[in-house]
Amino acid sequence: MMPGRQIIVLPGNADLGTRLADAIGIETGTVQVQRFPDGETYVRLDASVAGQAAILACSLDRADDKLLPLLFAASAARDLGATSVGLVAPYLAYMRQDRRFQPGEAVTSAYFARILSRHFDWLVTVDPHLHRRVSLGEIYSVPAMTLHAAPLLADWIAREVQNPLLIGPDGESEQWVAPIARAARAPHIVLDKIRRGDRDVEVSIPAVERWNRHTPVLVDDIISTGGTMIETIGHLKAAAMKPPVCIVVHGLFVGRAYADLIAAGADRVVSTNTIPHPTNGIDMVPMLAQAVRKIAGTG
Ligand code: R5P
Repeated sequence: MMPGRQIIVLPGNADLGTRLADAIGIETGTVQVQRFPDGETYVRLDASVAGQAAILACSLDRADDKLLPLLFAASAARDLGATSVGLVAPYLAYMRQDRRFQPGEAVTSAYFARILSRHFDWLVTVDPHLHRRVSLGEIYSVPAMTLHAAPLLADWIAREVQNPLLIGPDGESEQWVAPIARAARAPHIVLDKIRRGDRDVEVSIPAVERWNRHTPVLVDDIISTGGTMIETIGHLKAAAMKPPVCIVVHGLFVGRAYADLIAAGADRVVSTNTIPHPTNGIDMVPMLAQAVRKIAGTG
């Protein structure tokens, strides 16, 4: 066991936290989170962090519920004598609103980054949804290490899918679908996507008939409502393509999204384990462990 470091596992992150600690060779502690009858949050660290570097493990899907307990846990770790407090958040929330589109709107990606930067000394995450930003360094004032799942997605596709045709949802996806396709030695196309509302997307698909011997593989960084993929599957069906495989980095699967995707005709759905879900089939823990070793000086 390497002394001086500890993974503190937030509720709902047991698999991530314990496997990360095993991979790095350090101990784990946990955090109890309870609600008082009036809805306020009680937090207690089951760990002695005095003189140790505390590494909090908490994926930030459903961030509104998780943020306050996480910030309390980070503050408690510091109060109890942790020498530093880092955060491993395989999914990083609040990347969407990176501009003021309408007068008066809150630019929440910047505000969220400011809050986390005040509480943590560093951050490790996987493929944050950067739209108009180039890197997390533009909004995070602490070291923020970004990992890329692309090589693992490419390996999975090369191993699991015969004769794949990769399909990215929009022009923005070209930059990461193209390298995945190259690594998987597969052709790729990207679609045009118009988003009219949170649950209303329209995609237009180029002529795909020439690929009808291929297995379509829809690749995206996030599945939220499933609307983008479901709409794409409709077009693929109309073009008499084979049932597609859907592969995603962060499977948020809001509400009935997963059931709806299957009902729409997805043959298989696979996600990385940045967010726990039955579709998790691509393991990010070894890559996360390597990153934590580097940033927290554990190896
Ligand atoms: C958008 O820019 C993202 O890459 C995803 O396409 C989007 O978040 C998917 O959302 P939904 O599943 O709700 O269509």
